Amino acid sequence: MTAKEPLTTLDWDNLGFEYMDLPYRYRAYWKDGEWHKAGLTEDSTLAMNEGSTALHYGQQAFEGMKAYRTKDNHVQLFRPDRNAARLQDSCRRLLMPEVSTEMFIEACKSVVRANEAYVPPYGTGGTLYLRPLIIGVGPNIGVHPAKEYIFTVFAMPVGNYFKGGMVPTRFLVSNYDRAAHKGTGASKVGGNYAASLLPGDKAHKEGFSDCIYLDPVEHKKIEEVGSANFFGITKDGKFVTPKSPSILPSVTKYSLLYLAKERFGMEVEEGDVYIDELDHFAEAGACGTAAVISPIAGFQVGDKYHQFYSETEVGPVTKKLYDELTGIQFGDKPAPEGWVVRV
Ligand code: PLP
Ligand code: COI
Repeated sequence: MTAKEPLTTLDWDNLGFEYMDLPYRYRAYWKDGEWHKAGLTEDSTLAMNEGSTALHYGQQAFEGMKAYRTKDNHVQLFRPDRNAARLQDSCRRLLMPEVSTEMFIEACKSVVRANEAYVPPYGTGGTLYLRPLIIGVGPNIGVHPAKEYIFTVFAMPVGNYFKGGMVPTRFLVSNYDRAAHKGTGASKVGGNYAASLLPGDKAHKEGFSDCIYLDPVEHKKIEEVGSANFFGITKDGKFVTPKSPSILPSVTKYSLLYLAKERFGMEVEEGDVYIDELDHFAEAGACGTAAVISPIAGFQVGDKYHQFYSETEVGPVTKKLYDELTGIQFGDKPAPEGWVVRV
């Protein structure tokens, strides 16, 4: 067993996004058509057969969620039913057994409760990041779905994913593809992220926060960020975000579409976003659980740089959406029915 993260040395205001070995994680094992031995464990190491399909054929899927501490000191999850449903979609795509919504939410709650001391204090901006993960395991060598699976949920306190948080950063429009239209881009599976490691590394080395991927057919339309969805605010105030079969259906993005329309009366559109029409946008951002809302300063497209709102300031609409979203997540603003779940 590895050493656990000492609570006393954590700097809640400057957490970043790094792995930490917390005291407890949830584990369940699938064999003979059902989940067994479900519960908490202190062991952060997974033991598996060398033939496990997760290792050879990428038969695995994961989720990313957060637990938020509110001003009155309770802890809540944000739309965990949406993450459960997306994991079920990913499992169907990769022929893995599904985790029911009830089992998924209970697993997440149990991990948050067991590690509650690691949920950052209200006001620091920090959250407890949850990583539900399902992997195909067991003795196997052919390209077939596994007969055995492990479902685990582990957690760690996190701060900003992109440096600076609400400070705009630059993104590089990549020459690489992340996923194909009829492939697995809409599933949250490791292979998509493996494909993004080299382009992401190149982008980071050139000083960009991440890549922007274009559609894999014509390379004319924006797909998404390597780790988040893209949105833009047009000069006439519309919230626009790409629609494509190869991007991850972001829980944050659908929440923002709802909030922009229902709370701010904005026109919203999920559709084609052409890379040669960036002038339509006054503001742009990346949205996701880890990214929250991260303003985009500009895009490097080949040898040209396109700046959106500002290199240093967050745009007013992006800020308004950020305040509404995080206000709901931290319990400061009223949540639409069913969006927050108390742990
Ligand atoms: N797109 C990709 C590739 C991601 O990894 C994520 C993160 O989960 C998102 C989008 C945002 O999705 P969500 O808002 O559900 O976290
Ligand atoms: C998330 O936002 O939860 C993600 O999974 C993105 C990234 C850390 C891969």
